[in-house]
Amino acid sequence: MKVLMVGATGKYANLVVPELKQRGATIRALVRDKDKVDTVRQQGVDEAVIADLNDSDSLRVAASGVEGVFHINPAFAPNEAELGVAMVEAAKASDVHKFVFSGAIHPSISKMSNHAAKLPVEEALYESGMEFTVLQPTMFMQTLDNGWRSVLEQSRFSLPYSKHALACYVDYRDVAEVAALALTGDKLGYGTFELCAPGMVNRVELVAIMSEVIGRTIEAGEPPFDEWAQVAHIPEGSTREGLRKIYADYDQYGFPGGNALVLRAILGREPRTLRQYIQELANRKAAA
Ligand SMILES: NC(=O)c1ccc[n+]([C@@H]2O[C@H](COP(=O)([O-])OP(=O)(O)OC[C@H]3O[C@@H](n4cnc5c(N)ncnc54)[C@H](OP(=O)(O)O)[C@@H]3O)[C@@H](O)[C@H]2O)c1
Repeated sequence: MKVLMVGATGKYANLVVPELKQRGATIRALVRDKDKVDTVRQQGVDEAVIADLNDSDSLRVAASGVEGVFHINPAFAPNEAELGVAMVEAAKASDVHKFVFSGAIHPSISKMSNHAAKLPVEEALYESGMEFTVLQPTMFMQTLDNGWRSVLEQSRFSLPYSKHALACYVDYRDVAEVAALALTGDKLGYGTFELCAPGMVNRVELVAIMSEVIGRTIEAGEPPFDEWAQVAHIPEGSTREGLRKIYADYDQYGFPGGNALVLRAILGREPRTLRQYIQELANRKAAA
């Protein structure tokens, strides 16, 4: 199976590379910056093609001769939906057989663009005639990496929304495994799958797990959005404004989900848990 992969340079999507390689796929990485070609080659991709999701012609060339596409929409791109639809249309024009889209849980939430922008891509895919697999993962456990330094140095884990709001998580390595199974096998074709580890936790419960794993008390911080964004070096513009909306929504409604039935059935094992992920973060630091 030869796969065109969008996101091989990304901080989450790159986790799909080893899962595909393990299953014998040949990977052509779609890279927009030629300076990143060496990086993706070192990660194990077989070839790279320079293309941009804003340039449909380049996408058609990139997709020619592959049997499958893995696609992830870049977070907070102002034209996120258009970029995803363009990739679907290019794959179809290039006679690609299978298309796996890593989207997001609850694309019907219209108030948050990072959810709603997935719907037009799903729609284009369902109408494309290609064999589709739509993955709807919840919040990635890997986002905890961003606050880990503050956990170790200040014994505090902060996010700018209520520490009592419940949220569900998934380890993106489990999502990557599902993506690779979908591309290299037959059992996930024509399916749309919500992907969560079991249950929900609020930030008070999350820091309780961190405290147990590290062996000292970690506090749950709840700073105002602008203060948090400054400390977290979130760039001004679409990313900062997108996050402002997201956190205002989480503050009110949390991030509900956490039904692991589907992920468990696909993987044939228990999904990775938050506690395991936090233990890995702690071990990583200890090893460093
Ligand atoms: N964070 C979460 O908890 C969560 C949960 C559920 C769903 N999601 C969704 O997952 C996605 C993750 O986004 P991310 O950006 O953080 O992922 P990422 O893993 O960093 O991947 C984004 C990739 O898109 C590439 N890219 C960006 N603009 C491009 C363009 N114009 N042409 C070609 N490639 C381009 C980037 O390449 P460069 O290296 O060149 O930038 C990068 O490889 C988003 O759609 C988000 O809504 C996130």
